[in-house]
Amino acid sequence: MQFKTTSADAGKKVTACAIVGVYDKKQLSAAAAEIDTASGGLIRGMLDSGDLSTALGAATLVARVDGAKCKRVVVVGLGSRSGLDRRAFYKAMQAALGKITSSKVTEATCYLTAEETVGADAYYRGRLAAQALGEHRYRYTEMKSRNKSPVPKLKTLTLAGGNRDDLKAVEQGATHGAGIVTGMNLTKDLGNKPANICHPTYLAEQCRKLAKKHAKLSIDVLDEPDMAALGMNSLLSVGHGSEQPCKLIHLDYRGGGDEPPVILVGKGITFDTGGISLKPGPQMDEMKYDMGGAASVIGTMAAVAAMKLPINLMVIVPSAENMPSGRATRPGDVVKSMSGITIEILNTDAEGRLILCDALTYAQQFEPAALIDVATLTGACVIALGHHRSAVMSNNDALASDIVAAGERAVDRAWHLPIDQEYTDQLKSNFADLANIGGREGGAITAGAFLSEFTKNANWAHLDIAGTAWRGGAKKGSSGRPVPLLVEYLMQHID
Ligand code: BES
Ligand code: MN
Ligand code: ZN
Repeated sequence: MQFKTTSADAGKKVTACAIVGVYDKKQLSAAAAEIDTASGGLIRGMLDSGDLSTALGAATLVARVDGAKCKRVVVVGLGSRSGLDRRAFYKAMQAALGKITSSKVTEATCYLTAEETVGADAYYRGRLAAQALGEHRYRYTEMKSRNKSPVPKLKTLTLAGGNRDDLKAVEQGATHGAGIVTGMNLTKDLGNKPANICHPTYLAEQCRKLAKKHAKLSIDVLDEPDMAALGMNSLLSVGHGSEQPCKLIHLDYRGGGDEPPVILVGKGITFDTGGISLKPGPQMDEMKYDMGGAASVIGTMAAVAAMKLPINLMVIVPSAENMPSGRATRPGDVVKSMSGITIEILNTDAEGRLILCDALTYAQQFEPAALIDVATLTGACVIALGHHRSAVMSNNDALASDIVAAGERAVDRAWHLPIDQEYTDQLKSNFADLANIGGREGGAITAGAFLSEFTKNANWAHLDIAGTAWRGGAKKGSSGRPVPLLVEYLMQHID
């Protein structure tokens, strides 16, 4: 991916493809008007004849533009001017690029970045444009020997802006967007990889590779004996049934001097069968995505390192495979976690919280400014919020609202759910300090409440991404979420 900027007249700029917007009530954007003038009324004519839609997300490819210097033009509907917010902008970008997916165009000029957008200045428009191109170009084909869907040829995008400052901001945004894409692509690749390849040891190796690439990034991987010595019996109990050993990956990026680090902890269950509390068969393959939290925090680290952000960031990934076997943990087993809290494992399928609690205890020794865990934790979260928003829970409302706000800005939305004592009360056990399940009611929150018992000494938040980390069905694949939200949160943390 490569980005350039321009403030040239759209009718006079040589390009294989111009991307311009039109608004409701047949209003042309400035760039659309310039092409219209150069071409003797092409766009206005098509609007008048009803061959162009101005509805948000509608896009029309016009293959010949006599008079103007562009070979083609994609005209995108932007809806109403006042309705063009950052989400609408992103949707329009995606629709425009969708029109040239299988075309020969290798280079295009996008004028949408010059359109005033509610809540998104030139910097954010550049960033969202770069992100749209990244999404457009992503394919996961490494396991295919034939019928590979080709990567679109579009590589270079010239982004339009007004004055000099605008152009600088657009360019800076595009550079950051490219960094976010680097992170999202790693997140997607790790998520889409089958669990017979992507096991805890593989995740650790990939993190070692990432650490080698960046001078400010170092890594430590704890093996099972190291974890046993620290008393991480809850984490280890989850991997007992598997042939694959558990790992605890600890990445440390130092770009921010002596500041206390932000720590991201990602659930790294490389496959979740449910264990002895075995899951039903349909869609069980999707449980290869149960390391989506880990993939997203590793991807965020890759983005932060690529962008060379001046912050301190640690990423901690507890990783295990949840399998049934003669050595597997049984329902009713009691384990002592690293914190000293004992846990009755009433359901071996509630395993995410069991690996996270030990990782969160481990993390607190580094005295983080903020401690955020990210996990595909509960089916209940998908019932509550669907596939549109991630859930945020926290012991600090200000932190939760910072995260929700970051999600808004990054077009990667989240929603704050409460944690009250009543939810924690649902986790009572007759035989240990805590049970690992709290019943069906409020299942996403009782999972968060469980984690909150282990994070009393931290400024902590939990992101449940069970509904947002991947898409199912015909377009099955990792979404790369919530990398945009996390990077945005970290960038805000700098100011
Ligand atoms: N990884 C699953 C959560 C999940 C399920 C994510 C479906 C996305 C789609 C998690 O380990 C799990 O199995 N949770 C149980 C918890 C229950 C036993 C309390 C669940 O949600 O059913
Ligand atoms: Mn499970
Ligand atoms: Zn799970």
